[in-house]
Amino acid sequence: MAVKSILVTGGLGFIGSHTCVTLAQAGFRLAIVDNLSNAKRSVLDRIRALAQGEIDFHEADIRDRPALDRAIGRAAVDAVIHFAGLKAVGESVEKPLLYYDNNVGGTVTLMQAMAAAGVRRMVFSSSATVYGEPIRLPITEDHPLRPQSPYGQTKLIVEQMLADEARADDRFRYAALRYFNPIGAHPSGGLGEDPNGIPNNLLPFVSQVATGLRPAVRVFGQDYDTHDGTGVRDYIHVMDLAAGHLAALRFLEAANASVTVNLGTGNGYSVLDVIRAYERASGRPIPVDMSPRRPGDVASCYAAPALAAERLGWRAQFGIDEMCRDAWAWARKNSGS
Ligand SMILES: NC(=O)c1ccc[n+]([C@@H]2O[C@H](COP(=O)([O-])OP(=O)(O)OC[C@H]3O[C@@H](n4cnc5c(N)ncnc54)[C@H](O)[C@@H]3O)[C@@H](O)[C@H]2O)c1
Repeated sequence: MAVKSILVTGGLGFIGSHTCVTLAQAGFRLAIVDNLSNAKRSVLDRIRALAQGEIDFHEADIRDRPALDRAIGRAAVDAVIHFAGLKAVGESVEKPLLYYDNNVGGTVTLMQAMAAAGVRRMVFSSSATVYGEPIRLPITEDHPLRPQSPYGQTKLIVEQMLADEARADDRFRYAALRYFNPIGAHPSGGLGEDPNGIPNNLLPFVSQVATGLRPAVRVFGQDYDTHDGTGVRDYIHVMDLAAGHLAALRFLEAANASVTVNLGTGNGYSVLDVIRAYERASGRPIPVDMSPRRPGDVASCYAAPALAAERLGWRAQFGIDEMCRDAWAWARKNSGS
């Protein structure tokens, strides 16, 4: 089936907004549903300025079935890309019901609305957190699934719901994409990560130190069994992720199957590697403040990316220097420094 019109939930968020630009430029018509719980309305103007495609916006919650019915009906949707969700691991430990309601309950409502409208294609934002603590590296998709937080549980439950729905309705197809650590920004500097409050993730924090908003980056743990003692992760450029969604849509158009794949580069970089790369990109010193390990953090986590290459024909193109270059272009443009 030809997929032309896409409903994008959470399309004003970090990964969603970059993916919308890529999809609109590839000729898809988009309808975004976002409740603005972690995004600014102005992101819509940024997407439209970069993409110039047909992009509708509905300020709505995915738990609001009538609003979803309206959005799906008006756009004559062929497929859904489902980014909407809460994503802070620590908060999910404190407020598990909020996470189950939003991430699982919201997806149930979304899938019911899709079924009622006969929409049978979904690309879902899953996460490497479904694996829990790695027992072997690199992580292949058949690694045991043992999420360590309510957030990770919600991702695994949604993956299971998708598999169950595909078993129940053989016309339903999905791509569950397990992202590793998305960073970077649109190369134009016109779109990037803009979290509310104190950033949870490394790169926005480093950016805020580079622009002078914060004095130093707190590095949690320098005694891990890694090349420099700091934690190693698989950082992936957000534009590579965006391209991964395009590849997943093409897969769902062409293949008579569903797929669950890692989206990572396969390369592990330590916290200090990232900070040094950001210093090179920005030409500014990034002071670090060494702190003890954080409970729950693992030494190393990186993907085996081969299955995505085989099934989707997708591979990450960008390295850590490009990720930091683009993150810096965005940070500098938006901080006035
Ligand atoms: N950023 C990461 O490190 C990472 C890693 C793995 C997986 N993911 C997943 O990818 C998806 C996108 O992540 P992101 O980094 O772009 O996050 P984000 O918070 O920037 O984007 C999520 C968007 O969803 C919206 N939203 C949340 N709940 C909603 C609801 N009930 N109804 C409508 N809109 C809602 C938010 O306003 C936001 O714009 C999430 O599902 C996240 O769990 C992210």
